[in-house]
Amino acid sequence: MKSFVVSSSFMIKVVTVWYGVFMFGVLLPLSSEAQLDPSFYSKTCPNVHSIVREVINNVSKTDPRMLASLLRLHFHDCFVQGCDGSLLLNNTATIVSEQQARPNNNSIRGLNVVNQIKTAVENACPGIVSCADILALGAEISTVLAGGPDWKVELGRRDSLTANITLAQNLPGPSLTLDQLKKRFSDQGLNTTDLVALSGAHTFGRARCVLFVGRLYNFSNTGNPDPTLNATYLQTLRSVCPNGGPGANVADLDLTTPDTFDKNYYSNLQVQKGLLQSDQELFSTSGADTISIVNKFSADQNAFFEAFKASMIKMGQIGVLTGSKGEIRKQCNFINSQSAELGLYNVASKESSEEDGGMVSSI
Ligand code: HEM
Ligand SMILES: *[C@@H]1O[C@H](CO)[C@@H](O)[C@H](O)[C@H]1NC(C)=O
Ligand SMILES: *[C@@H]1O[C@H](CO)[C@@H](O)[C@H](O)[C@H]1NC(C)=O
Ligand SMILES: *[C@@H]1O[C@H](CO)[C@@H](O)[C@H](O)[C@H]1NC(C)=O
Ligand SMILES: *[C@@H]1O[C@H](CO)[C@@H](O)[C@H](O)[C@H]1NC(C)=O
Ligand SMILES: *[C@@H]1O[C@H](CO)[C@@H](O)[C@H](O)[C@H]1NC(C)=O
Ligand SMILES: *[C@@H]1O[C@H](CO)[C@@H](O)[C@H](O)[C@H]1NC(C)=O
Ligand SMILES: *[C@@H]1O[C@H](CO)[C@@H](O)[C@H](O)[C@H]1NC(C)=O
Repeated sequence: MKSFVVSSSFMIKVVTVWYGVFMFGVLLPLSSEAQLDPSFYSKTCPNVHSIVREVINNVSKTDPRMLASLLRLHFHDCFVQGCDGSLLLNNTATIVSEQQARPNNNSIRGLNVVNQIKTAVENACPGIVSCADILALGAEISTVLAGGPDWKVELGRRDSLTANITLAQNLPGPSLTLDQLKKRFSDQGLNTTDLVALSGAHTFGRARCVLFVGRLYNFSNTGNPDPTLNATYLQTLRSVCPNGGPGANVADLDLTTPDTFDKNYYSNLQVQKGLLQSDQELFSTSGADTISIVNKFSADQNAFFEAFKASMIKMGQIGVLTGSKGEIRKQCNFINSQSAELGLYNVASKESSEEDGGMVSSI
């Protein structure tokens, strides 16, 4: 009798141990610990990359700048509560959109292109691909189409149910010092190499005069231009941005090859031709550890491309929603419970896709 009781309680322990192994070994990875994976859609939407590529390729034929604009959208998404499509959410009764935060307002472009992509992807694979993943794919495809490196985009992000304009106000601004830039990046888990490599995205695209005009006429209220601005470049920029003139005029972020993704951003910094203060800081801050990284990327485009790829993958992992968190939005500008109410499923029609301005306009 005694030996039976011992053996019975032993059996209970064995069962408990095996149940524990089952819980941690099988159930947990399926729920909260799911990881991103480049082949996430290989069965459910195998052509997603080429679908996204076709839309972007078409748009870029008439609007080459759009490649830069789409890369930036992924950055502005990832730095605000993670890469979760929160940037795309519009104002509603319960959502305060990030799109009107100072770094985004009258600045981000391509929201309508994202909706065009979403429509094309929904037509092929309804309800499968998140808007956050469309931004990540759009960033890689845009980089490649502009002449930059390709990489395996990690996928499986889900879309947020919230936006956060307060966090969006904190996106890095063009007048930050190097220490401030480092802080903004380390807050996101990105180090100094990531900061220098990702700033290389300013090898294409444009910036508005209002964001750097202070460097041209009255730098930090000194009454003089920024001493780290090349004298010939200063004259060029002054003709684009007259003192007190229209702040919405734009200049190329890379004066040498404005629409090409290459290492020229770094060679510009070496001759004091960075457009934004935050660009030139990387090279002109005396004694900074970023100078040698700029020199390396300027000398070796392959080194830049390899670093950029690694840092983009790292940035793409920030605060992602996976597993059962978030949702797959049907329309990128609204959470599903609200787009259903508003009757906005499949709202980005082929007709509206022709319209310009970067915003959805055919509601
Ligand atoms: C290091 C901190 C950064 C600062 C302070 C910064 C700031 C800016 C500013 C002020 C503009 C011009 C916006 C306008 O004219 O309205 C701009 C444009 C741009 N930024 Fe950044 N940025 C930073 C990092 C990044 C990163 C990490 C990426 C992407 C990986 C990126 C990609 C771009 C692109 C592609 C454009 C041109 C967009 C277009 O032409 O539509 N930036 N950035
Ligand atoms: C892209 O352009 C080609 C040629 O004009 C056209 O046949 C195709 O339908 C377009 N695709 C998309 C997704 O817009
Ligand atoms: C955003 O830009 C619009 C148009 O220029 C302007 O009217 C509005 O005040 C800006 N919003 C914020 C929050 O700055
Ligand atoms: C935005 O983020 C801040 C900081 O994490 C948080 O305190 C605030 O509650 C968030 N707001 C919304 C609307 O989620
Ligand atoms: C930054 O992080 C990457 C890995 O993510 C690492 O390879 C690199 O050495 C780090 N750079 C610095 C300056 O810490
Ligand atoms: C520079 O800006 C400061 C502060 O706004 C102002 O007091 C000063 O007069 C300006 N200097 C010039 C030369 O515009
Ligand atoms: C300014 O640019 C010119 C080329 O336009 C270059 O020769 C010169 O070295 C640059 N000046 C500085 C201080 O980098
Ligand atoms: C979303 O908001 C933008 C302005 O940020 C507006 O242009 C667009 O029409 C809105 N989209 C929808 C689907 O309502």
